[in-house]
Amino acid sequence: MMLCSDFKEFRTHLQQLAGTRRVVAVIDNKVENLYGEAFPFEKMTVVAEERHKTMQTVEMLIQRLLELHADRDVLLLGVGGGITTDICGFVASIYKRGVACGLVPTTLLGMVDAAVGGKNGVNMLGYKNMLGTIRQPEFVVSTIDFLSTLETAEVRQGLAEMLKAFLIKGEYFEECGAFFANNGVGEMLEDGTKRSQLQAFIQAAVAVKEGLVREDEQDNGVRQLLNLGHTFGHALERCTGMSHGDAVAIGMVCAAKCVNSADTPLITEVLQSCGLPVEVPAGVSRAAMLEAMMQDKKRADGRCRVVVLEAVGRVEVREMELQELRW
Ligand SMILES: NC(=O)c1ccc[n+]([C@@H]2O[C@H](COP(=O)([O-])OP(=O)(O)OC[C@H]3O[C@@H](n4cnc5c(N)ncnc54)[C@H](O)[C@@H]3O)[C@@H](O)[C@H]2O)c1
Ligand SMILES: [Zn+2]
Repeated sequence: MMLCSDFKEFRTHLQQLAGTRRVVAVIDNKVENLYGEAFPFEKMTVVAEERHKTMQTVEMLIQRLLELHADRDVLLLGVGGGITTDICGFVASIYKRGVACGLVPTTLLGMVDAAVGGKNGVNMLGYKNMLGTIRQPEFVVSTIDFLSTLETAEVRQGLAEMLKAFLIKGEYFEECGAFFANNGVGEMLEDGTKRSQLQAFIQAAVAVKEGLVREDEQDNGVRQLLNLGHTFGHALERCTGMSHGDAVAIGMVCAAKCVNSADTPLITEVLQSCGLPVEVPAGVSRAAMLEAMMQDKKRADGRCRVVVLEAVGRVEVREMELQELRW
């Protein structure tokens, strides 16, 4: 991913990347209202809500592309958060058996996670990301300036995935945590030094994901480490309806407690200092959690595949009996 230091540089790069091609943008309607003039292309807007991340939206977009007589040489540009880039990537991978795709993530989560790694897709019958492909976009380009309008709760969702990357790699975990604990994104963007720092942390988190994807694009091996916190996290999302990043934060603490990691207090403290939740809510019973985990698509043979967190920088995939799970 190319992360430009400001909006001006971003626009220059985007123009170069698009070249003289016909570009059709699939753009989040909120982003269109805020930044629309930066994307002087034909546009199709989408509403960034999980309930619209469906085949119906995919079909609607494809219908529009046909009406526009978009050819195989069209470049589809996905502009928005993960919902939008996931939908755009999927449409690009199937329209006329595949057309070029470029992504512009505009949320922190999109920058560090959703737009990186080539996974795309939509939900089906209430199950998340049931349909999709793995196909690398031609380019991913963005700028930290998009983050100026992002709501605090959305920043937190991205931060959880960033800290996850640093826990896996064993670098910057405490530094990044302290940076976000002590500064709001607004402050970060106003100060030159802090801008560079923010950019460096995002790029470092992206590098962790890119590295694992390079080694295991199809997700049969090391890429699975990126599921740290997600087995517990998905169950929590299902039981409580809480946001994904918040659930993953709690899930990462569970993944440490699960193996009695000596780093559990440190991990808990850093996440908490950034405003992330760290405990399974009192109302969620053990039975409900286990039941939700059983339904998780990462389970194999009634057992549960969990990424455990032995220590900061020491994670591994382990097959565990549900009874062994503790939190
Ligand atoms: N493909 C992958 O590998 C992958 C990885 C992680 C997550 N995902 C997917 O990503 C999605 C979540 O992504 P997300 O958190 O970016 O959510 P999102 O796309 O819903 O965006 C969050 C909210 O922020 C708004 N928004 C976007 N950019 C903005 C900006 N610059 N300023 C103000 N508001 C802005 C959106 O309109 C939306 O309301 C989920 O559907 C998830 O499944 C995919
Ligand atoms: Zn996640």
